[in-house]
Amino acid sequence: MSFNRDIPASQRIRNLYHVFGPYIRPYIRRIGLAYIALGISVGAAALRPWPLKYLLDGVILHKTKWQWIEAANPHWMVLGLCVALVVIVIGESTAGYFQKLLFAQIGHTATTDVLERTFTHLQTLPRGMKWAHSGDLIVRLTTDVKTMRDLLVEYQQKFSAYLLTFAATVFVMARLNWTLTSLGLSVVPVIWIISFRFSRSMRVAARQKRTREGMVASVVHENLNGLAVIQAFAQEENERRRFREQAQESLEANVESSRLGGAFNRSVEVLSIVGTALVLGFGAMKVLDGSLHPGDLVVFAAYMNDLYKPIQNLSEVSVKFMDSLASGERVLEVLETAPRIRDLPGAGPAPQFHGEIIFDHVSFGYEPDRPVFDDLTFRIHAGETIALVGASGAGKSTILNLLLRFQDPWKGRILIDGTDIRHWKLRSFRRQIGVVLQECFLFRRSVAENIQYGKSDASPHEVRAAAKAARAHEFIQQLPAGYDTVLDELGSNLSGGQRHRIALARAFLRNASILLMDEPTSGLDSVTETELLETLKDLTRGKTTIIVAHHFATVEIANRILVLDQGRLVQEGTHTDLLAQPGLYRTLYEAQSEEKRLA
Ligand SMILES: Nc1ncnc2c1ncn2[C@@H]1O[C@H](COP(=O)(O)OP(=O)(O)O)[C@@H](O)[C@H]1O
Ligand SMILES: [Mg+2]
Repeated sequence: MSFNRDIPASQRIRNLYHVFGPYIRPYIRRIGLAYIALGISVGAAALRPWPLKYLLDGVILHKTKWQWIEAANPHWMVLGLCVALVVIVIGESTAGYFQKLLFAQIGHTATTDVLERTFTHLQTLPRGMKWAHSGDLIVRLTTDVKTMRDLLVEYQQKFSAYLLTFAATVFVMARLNWTLTSLGLSVVPVIWIISFRFSRSMRVAARQKRTREGMVASVVHENLNGLAVIQAFAQEENERRRFREQAQESLEANVESSRLGGAFNRSVEVLSIVGTALVLGFGAMKVLDGSLHPGDLVVFAAYMNDLYKPIQNLSEVSVKFMDSLASGERVLEVLETAPRIRDLPGAGPAPQFHGEIIFDHVSFGYEPDRPVFDDLTFRIHAGETIALVGASGAGKSTILNLLLRFQDPWKGRILIDGTDIRHWKLRSFRRQIGVVLQECFLFRRSVAENIQYGKSDASPHEVRAAAKAARAHEFIQQLPAGYDTVLDELGSNLSGGQRHRIALARAFLRNASILLMDEPTSGLDSVTETELLETLKDLTRGKTTIIVAHHFATVEIANRILVLDQGRLVQEGTHTDLLAQPGLYRTLYEAQSEEKRLA
């Protein structure tokens, strides 16, 4: 999904509010209060120049048509007007304070809701989304969610405050002198045209800026993950250059965005000064003519500021608005990415499995037009232990992915105990499957917590038993804090074989009726491997087990072997049967024996 320039801006803004609008609905009463505060503060601001006018025209120059001012004691009048001024300012700032506070509270709370929803949504998304890198996704979840916060209430608040101030000012000014007022307003259409011209390029620049930032984050993220490879291949210099290039582009995008914003704001400023000059020049001449009170001109000058300030603020806020819009769209992209895995309508919880698995004419590929399987059919009986054998890239892991519903088939069905797995709620179904993936992921938590991961109510005793079965107990005990040792990120303070054994313990603890293991003995020495296979024999009894086997030692515990070649099932049978006939199995077996002999 990419930034689509063909959709008109108004449509995109509407889309954004359609999705994000509901997040502020729970706070509607507080928003109402905030707007009342806003009204008070704007009204008070509009009253502010009046005491000054009365002071000048009425008390000092005696040029007012209000008789009661002249009649009053001038000293009391001065005192009263000063008090009025103070009261107005206090009212304005108190209301302003509450208005700011309320809007900020609502904005932060609603954003946290958006953040949580986005996070939850991310958890449902297919792995390896083509349009986003993890680094970029992190930026979307942090910076972008924060930058879009102001879209929720802040801009509505600011825009209405500025428009209200503007309208109130125009109203009061027009009552004072409409000629001067229209003179002051004459620059407004020009400002409007300019902002229209600028807004499009500012939006593109803002989008560019956010995208570039995401790319920089991606490079950093990838480098952190690949540090060992980078150091081993001495690629620090190249990686640094790559980073520098990305950072440079991000910098340029930032500068361009600031330049546009700056140019726009300065144009608006210049135009407002032109407007002020027009009004003051014309007004001063009228005072010289005697057709305008000096007090009126003073008040007018004060209002001129109020007339243009909201326009200037509006243009400044529009620049930020563009940023938030770009961020909002990036968050929206995440939310609008439909989870690829959907339950069929009316999906219910999965019953206790016996464990018969059928692939029924399954076709599937990760990318359109590149099928991994075309019409694959096989059947695994409940309780059987199956070994999947085949060259790498044959589709072994993909079979496990489909069984776990990381992906759904293009065509055909996968049945467990005779029911299409899409008929069950995803989680209730996955809960019954124990799994050791090819890349075993460990969390930065204690060893015990990592093992407990699939069964959080497991007792320490169960955890130990599972670790013993996975041949992990001994090395765990030698860790500084035993089972309470907190692992480094990704378990990087353990060896590959140790990580694998913790992942195995995690799967064993689950005690599921279906066990899927992707090359479970990789990274293990042959003594540990033999020991582990002994336990596996016990543990897999009565469970349907699929083991992707790399070493032929693993194959020996299987009841049956399925041999895959480029997504097709080419042979099946027991180890002895398959060895007796010519074919892929024997070729692979002989190649491995040869390897061993040479070693
Ligand atoms: N996430 C993915 N996106 C695109 N293609 C993939 C993905 N994962 C695997 N493949 C492709 O699917 C085919 C089967 O892969 P896999 O099932 O992982 O093989 P293996 O038998 O080694 O486990 C390979 O050609 C691989 O390139
Ligand atoms: Mg694999």
